[in-house]
Amino acid sequence: MKIERQSLSRLTTLGVGGEAEVWTPQNLPELLEAMSAPYRILGGGSNLVVSDAGLEQRVVKLGGLYSSEDLERDPSLSSDALHVTGWVGGGCALPGLVRRAQKRGLSGLEGMVGIPAQVGGAVWMNAGTRYGEMFDALYELEVVANGEARIYAPEELNYQYRSSGIPRNDIVTRVRLKLTPSTPEAVEARMTDSDTARKGQPKARTAGCAFKNPTVGGQKVSAGLLIDRAGLKGLRVGKAMIALEHGNFVVNLGGATSADVKELLRQVEQRLEVALEWEYELWE
Ligand code: EPU
Repeated sequence: MKIERQSLSRLTTLGVGGEAEVWTPQNLPELLEAMSAPYRILGGGSNLVVSDAGLEQRVVKLGGLYSSEDLERDPSLSSDALHVTGWVGGGCALPGLVRRAQKRGLSGLEGMVGIPAQVGGAVWMNAGTRYGEMFDALYELEVVANGEARIYAPEELNYQYRSSGIPRNDIVTRVRLKLTPSTPEAVEARMTDSDTARKGQPKARTAGCAFKNPTVGGQKVSAGLLIDRAGLKGLRVGKAMIALEHGNFVVNLGGATSADVKELLRQVEQRLEVALEWEYELWE
């Protein structure tokens, strides 16, 4: 198994954070070894703010078996209207998976277009957009915890908006997807719709949306809209700034620290009347 000290600023999309020992297990015995001392699990690093001081715990990053992808139809579970795939590793990059499903004319992942995650992390947080979320496309998933791998049907978990209900340090190692046979053209058309929804989002270094959308008067409201209405776009601490394009994104202007990001979000929270919950993961 590869074990290497690395700067987490290079493994996260926002690009802040110090060093940690990164373990890359290739199979279950290696994964269990990696999990035998305090650890954190790293997915695509696209939702993460890591402490400037780095981490004492090891960081587990799935490799090998857990980054392979089998989209073939499992005939024993599929029908004319349902394509259940083989296993897709939690360490696979979501954008490539979405694209390959489209090329095969398989529908169900279009809503995930543009989400810069790995499959395991996207499932763990039930990532999504208003065009769909990860759990919509899950047939079953494998989770490693307490020294063993267990397979769950999605219904066995208490998943909801942006949460799978899976405890923080349990690892989503592999999933099987339930997709619908369609054509590459039809899937592409729906991907374009959902991509359009991202047009107003910054292209710079970010970690996606900082806050979950709050429920106000029984309705989900865009946190970005609330931050925008409060006049906080462009608010800056050090090299971290609230994006001019969308109020729920923090942009790293180059050399931002985790302290900058935390202070910026604290100032935003202070100036809003609605309490917001972080979507970012904070590692310290
Ligand atoms: N709006 C503003 N100003 C802003 C931001 C938004 O006026 O600064 C308005 C928009 O014009 C739109 C409405 O608010 O009328 C909703 O905005 P948007 O379509 O961007 O949706 P959102 O609720 O802010 C959610 C997800 C995004 C996802 C988009 C598109 C959350 C927290 N955010 O944003 O997901 O890309 O929908 O589907 O659920 C993420 O989770 O990291 C993320 C980026």
